[in-house]
Amino acid sequence: MNMELIVSLCKRRGFIFQSSEIYGGLGSCWDYGPLGVELKNNVKRAWWRDNVQLRPDMVGLDASILMHPRVWKASGHLDHFTDPMVDCRACQRRFRADTLDDAPWVHYCPATKGNKFEVPAGEPCLHCGARRTLCPACGKGELTEPRQFNLMFKTFMGPVEDEAAVTYLRPETAQGIFVNFDNVLQSMRLKLPFGVAQIGKSFRNEITPGNFIFRTREFEQMEIEYFVNPNDTIGGRPADEAWHERWIEDRLAWYRRYGLRPENLRLREHEKDELAHYAKRTADIEYHFPIGWSELEGIANRTDYDLKQHAEWSGKSLTYFDEERKTHVVPYVIEPSAGADRSLLAFLVDAYREEEVRGEKRVVLRFHRELAPIKIAVLPLLKKRPEIVETAHALRSRLARRWVTVYDDTAAIGRLYRRQDEVGTPYGVTVDVQTVGDPAKAEAGDQKVTIRDRDSMEQIRVPIDTLEAVLGRLFEGDPWERVAAGSARAEGSG
Ligand code: GAP
Repeated sequence: MNMELIVSLCKRRGFIFQSSEIYGGLGSCWDYGPLGVELKNNVKRAWWRDNVQLRPDMVGLDASILMHPRVWKASGHLDHFTDPMVDCRACQRRFRADTLDDAPWVHYCPATKGNKFEVPAGEPCLHCGARRTLCPACGKGELTEPRQFNLMFKTFMGPVEDEAAVTYLRPETAQGIFVNFDNVLQSMRLKLPFGVAQIGKSFRNEITPGNFIFRTREFEQMEIEYFVNPNDTIGGRPADEAWHERWIEDRLAWYRRYGLRPENLRLREHEKDELAHYAKRTADIEYHFPIGWSELEGIANRTDYDLKQHAEWSGKSLTYFDEERKTHVVPYVIEPSAGADRSLLAFLVDAYREEEVRGEKRVVLRFHRELAPIKIAVLPLLKKRPEIVETAHALRSRLARRWVTVYDDTAAIGRLYRRQDEVGTPYGVTVDVQTVGDPAKAEAGDQKVTIRDRDSMEQIRVPIDTLEAVLGRLFEGDPWERVAAGSARAEGSG
């Protein structure tokens, strides 16, 4: 599996396109196409339902992207949200100083009359033994000393472009939650522990974006700030530490529930020297992407850092009154912070399979049924027969009230199935001659249709009247084998 395969499928089948492609594209910006937007909405909906709507201790928020500039001073982003950056004095390219040796480097080797080689990442030249000191891209220029480069996008608010008008696009959604802590607490009369969730766009002027939608400059986050009373204990442990463990387990289980294979997920603890300036402990959920093991979600214990900082910079108290101890406390915060785009990429990569079916290659996206962008494809077996086509159109309209349903008659049935497999549609519904009969011969149809399961490619035949009920069971998670056991098996699979 490589990333190019996924990028090409995404473009070909309408999941993801390069932004502004007709103008040559805009680096690291991507547009979600008709199937991509459904898939992304499904990822976000599943996250929101499981983490907000199904939990009694969670509420939601949707804060604005532009915030008061002092927010970023208080949060530490203006001073600390930086990457060390070096420039090539010859080609002017810019690199992150700490990842210079992570890519192959260009070398003009003196031991071979200056021949040009591309040397593998981090390795010395095979001919002269030299290690990289010059620019890894052009192989000629000296690199400048590292300079700290702030990753926040700067802009101006209002008509005057001066220092007083400077504001920033948020680099994380989290701060919108912290600054609204008291609004949410008071309006919802909440008791600790409780959490506030938010899904929204964030922006970072990454020096080295790339790897498709893995690292981009504009992306969507799904973040939770879970507030706990630092004076509480759970099973003898400080409440923040116990809740941190619970969230790590919960979030790992969430990815597994929606189909990520356990062997492609792992946990990585941050070393003390890599912890963010606000964190007491951070554990990353990593996924085995085509580029290797990389962060999917970070789960940090941010302590009381943010609330204290905002209280200090805003002059407003951001505390919680602990009734039992009759004292005001500043809650600690556990923060499970996921990327919507990165999660979508993991779900796509994990779902991708190439199988051999009767000597032919079948590409199938085995999406979890809740994530699949199209839920049902209604397919007429013969488009020359008006009764078949009309019945199929009527069925599509009926099913579309509950599920994203498409109609397709632009190829033979085998080809139509393969097309739907490639975009991960869990079920096909086929209308055939038997369904409608033959009015010319005064033959009545049996008013039954075929349901085809994407994964097993098995088919069952069910009365049209029961179609919604049968599909309803399948979408609620009743396994195919059990549903199929109660229905007539149909001929053929493929
Ligand atoms: N509030 C904490 C925070 O923002 P982070 O580890 O910087 O922590 C959290 O980001 C998640 O957001 C990451 O695990 C990743 O899924 C996503 N993310 C961060 N930067 C990203 C980028 N440049 N492109 C795509 N996703 C990104």
